[in-house]
Amino acid sequence: MKPTIINVSLNNKFNNFSYPIFIGNGLLCNCEEILKKFVLKRKVILIHDNFFSLKNKDNEQFISFVKTINKLCESVNLIGIPGGDKSKNISQLECILEESLSFKIDRSSLIIAFGGGVIGDIAGFAASILLRGIDFVQVPTTLLAQVDSSVGGKTGINSNKSKNLIGSFHQPIAVIADIDILKSLPKREFLAGLVEVIKYGLIYDVEFFDSLENNYRDILSYDQLKLNEIISKSCEIKSLIIKNDEKESGKRALLNLGHTFGHAIESFGKYDGTIVHGEAVSIGICLAFRLSSKMSYCPQFETDRVVRFFKKLNLPTSLQELINLPITTTEMLKKFKYDKKNKNNQLTFILNKKIGKSFIKNNMDENILIEFLNDEI
Ligand code: GLY
Repeated sequence: MKPTIINVSLNNKFNNFSYPIFIGNGLLCNCEEILKKFVLKRKVILIHDNFFSLKNKDNEQFISFVKTINKLCESVNLIGIPGGDKSKNISQLECILEESLSFKIDRSSLIIAFGGGVIGDIAGFAASILLRGIDFVQVPTTLLAQVDSSVGGKTGINSNKSKNLIGSFHQPIAVIADIDILKSLPKREFLAGLVEVIKYGLIYDVEFFDSLENNYRDILSYDQLKLNEIISKSCEIKSLIIKNDEKESGKRALLNLGHTFGHAIESFGKYDGTIVHGEAVSIGICLAFRLSSKMSYCPQFETDRVVRFFKKLNLPTSLQELINLPITTTEMLKKFKYDKKNKNNQLTFILNKKIGKSFIKNNMDENILIEFLNDEI
């Protein structure tokens, strides 16, 4: 079956740039047609999650993908790194940069990121600074990466202070999202990725949220058509939002719904797997809705509906579920201060008027936040 293709077009002030997202089944085992245009006669550095290995026969898609690249490109060198946020740091980045340079790359060389969000973010960042910027292709292998992090050009690593504080905007030249590979990953990762899918409905499209509520059983059983539908719809909404705001000076910030809380929660977990990104965002979204209702922006029944859906999916919905993390109001507030959306020392949050209608709330009153968090913790 032919892949679905969503084009991401960016109207930035320097040029108009666009790239395709290929979505479908069996793309990695039959990727010659797609890859030809992007890798032909180039030196390729394939940065992949260590989870994938050429020695493991179960990694059929990875093996087949590497074989095809080998056939098409001038040379291919593999760099394997551990997945998970623990890898998203400056020393891992330095290893990638030095190793890539040792392969004598030039400006026509290409980086391919094969893995989840962490691999895509760090490999994309490396591509953005190697030789002042070389092309890269994203091959996202988790639901979260397929619907969010591989699209839109945010790349980077974490600082000790908080998540994603060091990075750049560097768009990929293509994204290849193979739905088949999702089954090979732990269910927990799949569910965590689903949070980012639901996020699009909550920000922008109540009908999409309705359809997720109606079809969640099929989605959880990896129904291929439904997966294609929700990944395509998510990428479509994301590309609409970033089209006129590539660098997040306005509406792109809406994509951060639940993330101010979420990033703070994750950093309490020290990225050791106690809580993964999507789970932290699940709580973050529920908090954002409860805060929206507390501030009378959003009717309580809408908030209750959102929380009910996350609970149905067995996702966490409140800070009180995180008894092992040392979360306090004071520490939360300290973490919020590092959020990239803040302006002039004032906190910014993404809140909702209803399901499908998020907005940017600047100059958040800290006293309201303190009272809110004291009730939630
Ligand atoms: N993940 C949010 C964004 O790409 O803007």
